[in-house]
Amino acid sequence: MFYETSDNAHGLPHDPFKAIVSPRPIGWIGTRGKDGSVNLAPYSYFNAVSDNPKTVMFSSSGRKDSLRNAEETGVFTASMVSRALAEKMNLTSIDAPYGESEFGIAGLAMAEGRVVDAPYVAEAHAALECRVTSIFEVKSLEGRPSGSFVVMGQVMGIHLDEAALSEGMLDMAIAAPVARMGYMDYCDGSEPFRMRRPAWPKA
Ligand SMILES: Cc1cc2nc3c(=O)[nH]c(=O)nc-3n(C[C@H](O)[C@H](O)[C@H](O)COP(=O)(O)O)c2cc1C
Repeated sequence: MFYETSDNAHGLPHDPFKAIVSPRPIGWIGTRGKDGSVNLAPYSYFNAVSDNPKTVMFSSSGRKDSLRNAEETGVFTASMVSRALAEKMNLTSIDAPYGESEFGIAGLAMAEGRVVDAPYVAEAHAALECRVTSIFEVKSLEGRPSGSFVVMGQVMGIHLDEAALSEGMLDMAIAAPVARMGYMDYCDGSEPFRMRRPAWPKA
């Protein structure tokens, strides 16, 4: 089948777009508002986009609390979601009123960023401390604003649980990072496999 997205007439019970761009890593975004309240929410429109400077992004479909706080304070954290934390991650996606701490709602321990004033998930095997470098609204070809806002952040500090390292590498079988597939499907990294990249033969 083929369909054009201008009318999005796929005829399927659910839009397959997010199942096709899959699996997507989950950034568990920790922020603080200028009123001091804390916030935690999962974002699967999330990824690393550059090594140098180390940069990540998340995208808010509509003006959500994480976007508001990142705008107000210019910082956020992104904690890694491991399989053991998946259910708690899901709890933090609840549409709690502004100012309610999802750390408390999900029974998660909160740790404070070392170089940014934003909290992260203490139980996470890894967390990134980020400063906002830009925020922009996604536009259509015609320049129509979408109501989706991309937050880009430079990674200033990285927390790594040394118990999740094997031979100096983050052990994916231990870290088991959860990714979002389509619909209500998730996967984790508990059964990783390795492949070497091909190299063109030297002359
Ligand atoms: C796994 C997962 C991934 C999600 N990804 C996104 C996303 O990329 N963008 C978004 O706007 N909402 C996403 N959501 C929904 C938000 O987490 C939800 O709307 C949440 O209440 C937003 O919280 P906030 O207002 O505290 O930022 C996701 C939910 C789940 C469970």
